[in-house]
Amino acid sequence: MSATKTVLVTGGAGFIGANFLNLFVPRSPAIRFVNVDALTYAANLASLASIEDAKNYVFEHVDIGEESAVDEMFGRYEPDVVVHFAAESHVDRSIHGPRAFIRTNVQGTLNLLEAARGSRKAAELVFHHVSTDEVYGSLGETGLFTEETRYDPSSPYSASKAASDHLVRSWARTFGLRVKITNCSNNYGPLQFPEKLIPLTISNLMDRKPLPVYGRGANVRDWLYVDDHCEAIWRVIEKGRVGETYNVGGNNERRNLDVVKMICRVFADEAGASLAELEGLIQFVPDRPGHDQRYAIDGSKVRQECGWAPAETFETGLRKTVRWYLDNAEWVEGVRTGAYRDWLHANYGSRRQTKQ
Ligand code: NAD
Ligand code: DAU
Repeated sequence: MSATKTVLVTGGAGFIGANFLNLFVPRSPAIRFVNVDALTYAANLASLASIEDAKNYVFEHVDIGEESAVDEMFGRYEPDVVVHFAAESHVDRSIHGPRAFIRTNVQGTLNLLEAARGSRKAAELVFHHVSTDEVYGSLGETGLFTEETRYDPSSPYSASKAASDHLVRSWARTFGLRVKITNCSNNYGPLQFPEKLIPLTISNLMDRKPLPVYGRGANVRDWLYVDDHCEAIWRVIEKGRVGETYNVGGNNERRNLDVVKMICRVFADEAGASLAELEGLIQFVPDRPGHDQRYAIDGSKVRQECGWAPAETFETGLRKTVRWYLDNAEWVEGVRTGAYRDWLHANYGSRRQTKQ
């Protein structure tokens, strides 16, 4: 991307968005990054401490479910690129309370698409939609998700992401919006909220609490280190074809039980703890309703067209991740106790904040 562009990032205070901004704000000083985030439970401004004073970074406390606030953002900043991360992202939460998923993931995406279509730069603007492999449903023992795989979502979360993907494509076909979509597999790495399998396992190990494994731990996910996902998104923005979808994966399929055992091994190593004691914390618990059996990605399109390949192996990425949680116990504690929520409330309340 060339100089003097504005990139509007939604959900930049969440796990992947914060890693994205931490990577690209320092690397691209000529680009202005506007982080639009509602600061839900999943957000943490402490994750952005290293860039909060950067000259090319602005934070906006905005809910994408609010049409007029979204329009105002597009009018004020006239973005050249939108990178749309903001979402309710946790499958288990979508089973307990699906409404927020429809509001943010469907209605929020609609608001962004309409604001993009109505913006002064609508004809050139690139709208990059960050989506998930869960839209394709579940694989059996064999096979891989390709960009042509039929949509077959299982959970309210994946159904809401599937709906958002369809909206994005329809704004391209009907209104000529220049869209790109990436559908990525499971991410892990620093700054991930400890409700997802890997950070939950690590933070429970830190407290020597039980490690819940759904069913028999035989479900398979394809794990990708978060920085590798962020680099893939950047490559697609720069090199991907307008109107195209790119599947992004780690070529790294693992059974959940094997992932949990590997975390125990790396944790024992890094923290100097007894592996037998840590593995003894594993507990099999009732399965997730509608639990997809296996995800696996054919990532050949993004590799061939955009020259992307992951830099981390699962071993190196997992070691970095465990080390990060051990070195940032305060961040984990803040998230767990809700201390950072109190800080957000005291500092932001219900006001919208602007730093320019
Ligand atoms: P996350 O839950 O960690 O963060 C979501 C962010 O969006 C938070 O900062 C939250 O405050 C913000 N947000 C939520 N509702 C909002 C609203 N109404 N208005 C403005 N901001 C709002 O999510 P994540 O894991 O970083 O995922 C980011 C994106 O990547 C999501 O779209 C998700 O579907 C997709 N994705 C995630 C993974 C993964 O493994 N985590 C894999 C593939 C795709
Ligand atoms: O595939 C991409 C998706 O990966 C993203 O779109 C989602 O936003 C992200 O949350 C993730 O979804 P999963 O449901 O796969 O992630 P989660 O970490 O919740 O679960 C991973 C696997 O581990 C899954 O098979 C369920 C299982 N699991 C999860 C938890 C939280 C357990 O066995 N025990 C647990 O406590």
